[in-house]
Amino acid sequence: MTTFNLLLLPGDGIGPEVMGETRRLISWLNENGDDRFEVQEGLVGGSCFDAHGISIQDETVDAAQKADAVLFGAVGGPKWDDVDYDVRPEAGLLRLRKDLELFANLRPAICYPALADASSLKRELVEGLDILIVRELTGGVYFGEPKTITDIGNGQKRAIDTQVYDTYEIERISRVAFDLAKKRRNKVSSSEKRNVMKSGVLWNEVVTQVHAKEFADVELEHVLADNCGMQLVRNPKQYDVIVTDNLFGDMLSDIAAMLTGSLGMLPSASLGAADAKTGKRKSLYEPVHGSAPDIAGQGLANPIAMIGSFAMALRYSLNRVELADRIEAAIASVLDDGLRTADIMQDGMRQVSTSEMGDAIIEALGTEG
Ligand code: IPM
Ligand code: MG
Repeated sequence: MTTFNLLLLPGDGIGPEVMGETRRLISWLNENGDDRFEVQEGLVGGSCFDAHGISIQDETVDAAQKADAVLFGAVGGPKWDDVDYDVRPEAGLLRLRKDLELFANLRPAICYPALADASSLKRELVEGLDILIVRELTGGVYFGEPKTITDIGNGQKRAIDTQVYDTYEIERISRVAFDLAKKRRNKVSSSEKRNVMKSGVLWNEVVTQVHAKEFADVELEHVLADNCGMQLVRNPKQYDVIVTDNLFGDMLSDIAAMLTGSLGMLPSASLGAADAKTGKRKSLYEPVHGSAPDIAGQGLANPIAMIGSFAMALRYSLNRVELADRIEAAIASVLDDGLRTADIMQDGMRQVSTSEMGDAIIEALGTEG
């Protein structure tokens, strides 16, 4: 029996509700499974701001550094629209990504067969869809300096964000993408805007070099980011792994997520470099969806992306691949049985609440072979 230490950061909006279902699943595993999960909790985002006037505390970042994996819900909401930029809810998440050096964000977009009709695209375009967006997460315009708004007189202000990438940052994210592609359909599509951005020129050059030197057996194509967005809604199945920068990855992953029927379905993993001695990576797992303040507290949220994020933690951080497979199979079987939360509800299906969906997944896990 192994004991794993998990840090749970539910956050704001629907974060606590979807995390609640994941916590129940973890308790069930503690009673019925082979391993023990020790769970610690912390505040992040607006809920941390309300309690402490900042969006994350040092002790929470320390706990995240030490945990075997961090599970993160969602942050933000209109309640905190006017708080200072440095302590806005999103700053807590960005600090975790930066301090833990979680440079590789894996965002799979998989269309469960039962949900192909919930997609805004035609069934034949999305049925069987399985793409992986590998988003660079600790660089680019999210963190580049200067990042300022200054008064330039005459009633005018000037806002500056800085898009900046060094060679090593592009090298390490492209290696992650090529490595993952080898275990999939062996194709990487690298996306940037080299036609207008110097960072795009360097991105293209470095990905091409890493490919030629280390991964010549993987198919590589380059696609401009705007075209990539268009292709994702025209013919998404042409893609296997898409590797892209922080900002384009943010946008392209929302588009890809929606192809699968609902943003509420998709998990993600954010990984750091493997430790030279132990091989362990720092890691944080979160749903791709946000805090959805409009539906918070009503039992309408879909817990599948959060539970799927826990399954990804089992797969990538805790080496419990079989259990991850079982959880994903339990999710698929509940969908096959016709259970739907509001976001994926369709004619002839049974609408269930957040906790009923959590119950059904735990039950499916308990009854499977
Ligand atoms: C995401 C989110 C975040 C981002 C926000 C909450 C800062 O949209 O994880 O995709 O922009 O990275
Ligand atoms: Mg986003």
